[in-house]
Amino acid sequence: MYRTHTCGELHIENIADEVILSGWVQRVRRLGGMTFIDLRDRYGITQLVLDEKAPDDLKTTVDGLGREYVIQVKGVVLERQSKNPNMDTGDIEIEIRSLKILSPSLVPPFTIQTDTDGGDELRMKYRYLDLRREIVRENLVLRSKMAIAVRNYLDSQNFIETETPVLIKSTPEGARDFVVPSRMNQGEFYALPQSPQQLKQLLMVAGFDRYYQIVKCFRDEDLRADRQPEFTQIDCEMSFVEQADVLDTFEGLTKHLFKVIKGIELNEEFPRLPYSEAMEKYGSDKPDIRFEMLFNDITSLVKNRDFNVFNTAEYVVAICAKGCAEYSRKQLDALTEFVKKPQIGAKGLVYLKFNDDGSLKSSVDKFYDEADLKNWANACKAKPGDLLLILSGEKEKTQVQMSELRLEMAKQLGLRDKNVFKPLWVVDFPLLEWDEETGRYHAMHHPFTSPKPEDIELLETDPGKVKANAYDLVINGVEIGGGSVRIFDSKLQAKMFKLLGFTSEQAEAQFGFLMNAFKYGAPPHAGIAFGFDRLVSLFAGLDSIRDVIAFPKNNSGRDVMMDAPSPISDEQLRELALKVKLQEDNDKEA
Ligand code: AMO
Repeated sequence: MYRTHTCGELHIENIADEVILSGWVQRVRRLGGMTFIDLRDRYGITQLVLDEKAPDDLKTTVDGLGREYVIQVKGVVLERQSKNPNMDTGDIEIEIRSLKILSPSLVPPFTIQTDTDGGDELRMKYRYLDLRREIVRENLVLRSKMAIAVRNYLDSQNFIETETPVLIKSTPEGARDFVVPSRMNQGEFYALPQSPQQLKQLLMVAGFDRYYQIVKCFRDEDLRADRQPEFTQIDCEMSFVEQADVLDTFEGLTKHLFKVIKGIELNEEFPRLPYSEAMEKYGSDKPDIRFEMLFNDITSLVKNRDFNVFNTAEYVVAICAKGCAEYSRKQLDALTEFVKKPQIGAKGLVYLKFNDDGSLKSSVDKFYDEADLKNWANACKAKPGDLLLILSGEKEKTQVQMSELRLEMAKQLGLRDKNVFKPLWVVDFPLLEWDEETGRYHAMHHPFTSPKPEDIELLETDPGKVKANAYDLVINGVEIGGGSVRIFDSKLQAKMFKLLGFTSEQAEAQFGFLMNAFKYGAPPHAGIAFGFDRLVSLFAGLDSIRDVIAFPKNNSGRDVMMDAPSPISDEQLRELALKVKLQEDNDKEA
């Protein structure tokens, strides 16, 4: 028997019990003739004590212990002389009677405690040591609890959890595929699913009615704090439903999770904001609605003066930062630098201070008189003490820039409280978006998304205007999930593929199986997928989803612990009938 108790289990009522504990040596302290050891496992830390009168061989073993040694200890529970109220087991200690080293340890490359001295790369290389830290492990415990709560809820709603294959054909979700070469079918490749989209639709054709899966998805795309090349979705699909049914069901799931995991009751219905309104008010399709600071379109108020930047701008937008008229020159310069960063790309920032005494001061007041500035302030419902921040330019770009500035201001003003949660649905997304580079339309969500029935006629005449029955769940500025009502008519689906630039042969080759299935009685269906990593990191109050993934990839998509990706042997290449030709070889030849 390795242990009678865990390291988090013994308390005052166990005094005088003979116990066996196993775990890792967190630290060893010597005080006078006594030696104290903090023994750690997943459940907690228990103090061990070796009396100065202990036999010599036991003393020698204890002297040889180092950090992270795995040991087994037999001993007796004693009441502590000086209790530690900060420790769950702080009332007791174990007097060591015998001790066995189960596994020695090298000196770990960083300290295994909350405030570790290890940098990011180092901790990722030794992720198994990083995961010993309580603060990291707790995120994964939370993840486990949330997965169970998701399963319980969806099971109670009649969803069937169904696994779908990982070696499949390409699914278009807008990223590049990761591909796997086939040995048995030389020259051919599987694609890893960007999502199980078509498979879940086939399960609806199969009559499953309600499907879900907590499933790995793979996307070869640029990585960010909220993006990993492999990530997990709570993937769902429902038959004989309309958009409102899906939103209700998944609003229910979200509320359930908040309640059982965080003890937060979200009683109100989540607001449902049309995409166009989200863009006008927040310049973003994933607005953070914990605070207002709404966009004010002041384009018509700034024209016909001598300020050419505004005269020639398609769009001029202002936000009102409450109580910020006192911002110093330095702070305003820093905001200008912020919007001029290459990632944001604004050319400059105009401000208008509405001072406490009612006077107005702007960076462009040589072009505008008092009455003009007053108009701007009125349009933004500014009060004395407020600061207007103004950006101008091409509409879509300026919206994105202002959205970043809005978030930055909210951060500076402490309006993005991690303990406040404000969910909303963004609905009525455009069906298509125009891609300048390829000169054609792309599906904004994916090609299986249904246009709004009243817009179907526009597909021929003005495709860019067509709205979709597509929706996203957004919480605190994070896109948690997205889904849509699907096309279930093979003719309409064929039309969509054509619009997206597929020839009928290409559509047949890539999606023939789905269109064929639709010829055998497809039920109306709709679905959604939540990004599970994003949801867990939101619940944990973290900024990066890496912290809720046991073995994440770094920003270059590498697993630095396993050192993957890595070359494969010539033998493997031969079997797969593959030859590697690197870009640099191509460049040399050219
Ligand atoms: P979508 O592409 O919107 O929809 O993805 C659903 C949700 O998955 C999360 N997500 C990611 N999380 C981490 N890393 C990534 N690289 C990543 N990409 C996406 C987001 C997103 O909202 N098949 C459709 C769903 C449907 O229509 O039912 C789909 O995959 O939180």
